[in-house]
Amino acid sequence: MIEPKIIVALDYADAHSALQFVNRIEPRACRLKVGQELFIAAGPQLVEQLVRRGFSVFLDLKFHDIPHTVAQACKAASKLGVWMLSAHALGGSTMLAAAREALGGVMPRPLLIAVTVPTSMGREELGHLGIGGEIDVAVLRLARLAHQSGTDGVVCSGHEAPQLKKQFGREFCLVTPGIRPAQTGHDDQLRVVTPRQAVLNGADYLVIGRPVTQAADPLRVLQDINREMTGNQA
Ligand code: C5P
Repeated sequence: MIEPKIIVALDYADAHSALQFVNRIEPRACRLKVGQELFIAAGPQLVEQLVRRGFSVFLDLKFHDIPHTVAQACKAASKLGVWMLSAHALGGSTMLAAAREALGGVMPRPLLIAVTVPTSMGREELGHLGIGGEIDVAVLRLARLAHQSGTDGVVCSGHEAPQLKKQFGREFCLVTPGIRPAQTGHDDQLRVVTPRQAVLNGADYLVIGRPVTQAADPLRVLQDINREMTGNQA
């Protein structure tokens, strides 16, 4: 597996716990997502360590600030050797374009992925922000804004993937959380899809946390999911 589609969410509170898990998996089976909790606790050193071990790292800090600040944050993150970065589409097109431009000269250039509407937000809460109407319409509008601003893709649910793929084409990268292998529980995720369904729906990368991080044999689970995705059951 040279280009793994699975991104394991390293949702750990400290570097030690994260590395204990990482010692049990390998870069051929998955990529890794470092979010705000782990980054604040363990810092850039951990990210560099993961990169040195051969993992592609998605630094998921969801930037949202004035364009200059976000551009500088992207530049700083790119120096860590990360493969993917995230920013909020609600930060606006000038912010997203500045982020993309800041990454322009970096080789290899990290992918810039926009967050549209966090799945934790309901229609009412969006309405309070002045964003009326159906959530899927807001998602589509923000994805279009992200696409026009030069981002490489968006985070979206497996259910939204077919429409976004159709609208923005093959090259626009879809990163999909809310994935649950067929035989596992849902945890607190409400609208889940299986890895195979997510890929069939057009997802390019699958963010998976607990089904892998809490498994007795995480590498085995990753191998099973990779097989399930390609339709090759053991
Ligand atoms: O453990 P689980 O597979 O639910 O973890 C999913 C990961 O994806 C977590 O890091 C979570 O924050 C993230 N995520 C999500 N839903 C979104 C966006 C991100 O579950 N809409």
